[in-house]
Amino acid sequence: MVLCLLAPHPKRINDTTVRQYPAFLQLRDRKCLIVGDDPNTDRQVESLLSCGARVVWIKPAGAAVAAHGNDRITTHLRDWCEADLEDCWLAIANSEDPQLNAAIATACETRRVLCHVRSQPEISSFAIPAVVDRSPLLVAINSGGVSPILSRVLKSKIETLIPAAYANLAKAVGRHRKRVSDKLPRISDRSHFWHALINGPTGELAFNAEANTLDTAIAQAVDAIGTNTTTTGHVSLVGAGPGDPDLLTFRALRLVQSADVVVYDRLVSPEILKLCRADAQMIYAGKARANHAIEQGSINQLLVDLAAAGQNVVRLKGGDPFIFGRGGEEIETLAHQNIGFQVVPGITAAAGCAAFGGIPLTHRDHAQSCVFVTGHLRNGEVNMNWQDLQDPTQTIVVYMGLVGLKTICESLVDNGRAAATPAALIEQGTTQSQRVLCGTLETLPEVVQKAAVNPPTLLIIGSVVTLRDKLAWFHPAQKSTAPL
Ligand SMILES: C[S@@+](CC[C@H](N)C(=O)[O-])C[C@H]1O[C@@H](n2cnc3c(N)ncnc32)[C@H](O)[C@@H]1O
Repeated sequence: MVLCLLAPHPKRINDTTVRQYPAFLQLRDRKCLIVGDDPNTDRQVESLLSCGARVVWIKPAGAAVAAHGNDRITTHLRDWCEADLEDCWLAIANSEDPQLNAAIATACETRRVLCHVRSQPEISSFAIPAVVDRSPLLVAINSGGVSPILSRVLKSKIETLIPAAYANLAKAVGRHRKRVSDKLPRISDRSHFWHALINGPTGELAFNAEANTLDTAIAQAVDAIGTNTTTTGHVSLVGAGPGDPDLLTFRALRLVQSADVVVYDRLVSPEILKLCRADAQMIYAGKARANHAIEQGSINQLLVDLAAAGQNVVRLKGGDPFIFGRGGEEIETLAHQNIGFQVVPGITAAAGCAAFGGIPLTHRDHAQSCVFVTGHLRNGEVNMNWQDLQDPTQTIVVYMGLVGLKTICESLVDNGRAAATPAALIEQGTTQSQRVLCGTLETLPEVVQKAAVNPPTLLIIGSVVTLRDKLAWFHPAQKSTAPL
């Protein structure tokens, strides 16, 4: 990249209302001057050195000189003089003395040297942005001198959105760029190729695989250019959490935003579906109780067929895919058919409902263990080993327990658990429709019957439920809570 050294005209330099021109500078082997002596100056010196610049650092007489182990830096302990700008491409006036900084800025202006002045955007000819560094990928944020704090806040947000692995992807893409340009002379063809590759399973390898696996996959994709080979797609089995889109993982969000096809279950909330790529094919796989839009065997085969046709598929499931989600069966079929897949955990209903219900699942004074069971009815009966559920220091979490609630509560009592054991049913946990109905094994079925509950619901049994009185914090639209 070429460094453009046309500094703005002096009359314009004070005008911070004019938008700045964004650019990245090539400073390798170029002389840069920096004046100042504080931790911020140290960081800027390091940053200049990391870009290969030749740095001349002017510090006050008597200041400490740190060893940099780098022969590109020359430190002078003396006052700045105009001759320091000789052969200079860029200067940073970082002194504590505003008059000295202003003098440096004026001298730079005369000599057409780009100059950044500490805390004085109005006399600077360039800004130092907040940077998200995924070298060779850099994201620079600049508020035009209005609010450096806002730039730093935004930087933290962007840091979390761009995983460090993007650096690997950028490096790998750089290694294959020339071959792709040779094979695809038209810019539009190249951009189509890279777009599909980066957003597809190969790009995803940057986050999961070693650098050489990623390199091999890109090389294969480049080899396949111009042939009629269909590259096999990939399936990501993704947990969508219990409902609130804010509870998605970053990885889940990235995947739903790039998938060609999303196969989703009934429990995936509409807010989460809205986050999927606008032109993605959306396939509803259903699974309400006794109302399966697609049978499980057909879902397994559908995933295989879509990936075999080269599609980048996200199989989106409520909560966590490996907890009462039949995710294991789906990926077994994929493994059997040699289709690549990954599994992305989600917040399971137990964790979400417990947190949003103010009911810790374990607590030193109440429960030392916790068990997740399914209350699904088979032939009108709940198949559970009731004897294993008698420990009063163990919390029981029952998924799919609404229809069998009465049977579950009665069976636990019949097998020895105290009728006064606290129990709570959490309806549509983590969402704005959440309600928490509290009672005991004896009273909860009646409380629930009177409350006209809408699934999904989760049952939590054990003395931890009493903690809700102190720990409830989530009060959507002030829904009522029945007392114990
Ligand atoms: C087939 S299971 C799937 C569980 C899911 N894989 C998980 O990890 O949460 C469906 C059951 O999860 C529970 N569930 C899921 N989301 C819920 C929510 N937001 N509130 C309460 N219960 C929920 C209900 O018991 C529902 O019947």
